[in-house]
Amino acid sequence: MPSKNQADLLPALHQLQEKFGYISDHAIVDLAKDHNMSHAEVVGVIDYYHDYRRTPPGRQRLRVCRAESCQAMGADALALHASTQLGVEFGATTADGEITLEAAYCLGNCACSPAVMLDDELHGRVSAERLDAILAEARGA
Ligand code: FES
Repeated sequence: MPSKNQADLLPALHQLQEKFGYISDHAIVDLAKDHNMSHAEVVGVIDYYHDYRRTPPGRQRLRVCRAESCQAMGADALALHASTQLGVEFGATTADGEITLEAAYCLGNCACSPAVMLDDELHGRVSAERLDAILAEARGA
């Protein structure tokens, strides 16, 4: 049977991410073999695209917009606040496995910058205090 080519890798990564929420180390080994690529090449592709994860996501996903409009309205300070409050860097999940902090590059809510999205819920004009309230509600407080 002919091996799949490298062009098939992105759809395969997308399917795995959709199904499991991340790309496991075991899956990377299989993908490299199936697509006639080295392990490092597969990891390089995964790391290149921000939306692919190599670790299981938290139960909820907080995305903080880091794009221009939000940056102009204080998104950098908001991002730092989110990271400090959650105790994780961007791309990481809180120790309790509850929230994964991610950067987004425009959430389509530029008129209400700065914007964040908790799972599928979009929030605009988010201050540090408002973010605290969003996080408290996410944690059931
Ligand atoms: S730049 Fe942040 S929502 Fe568009």
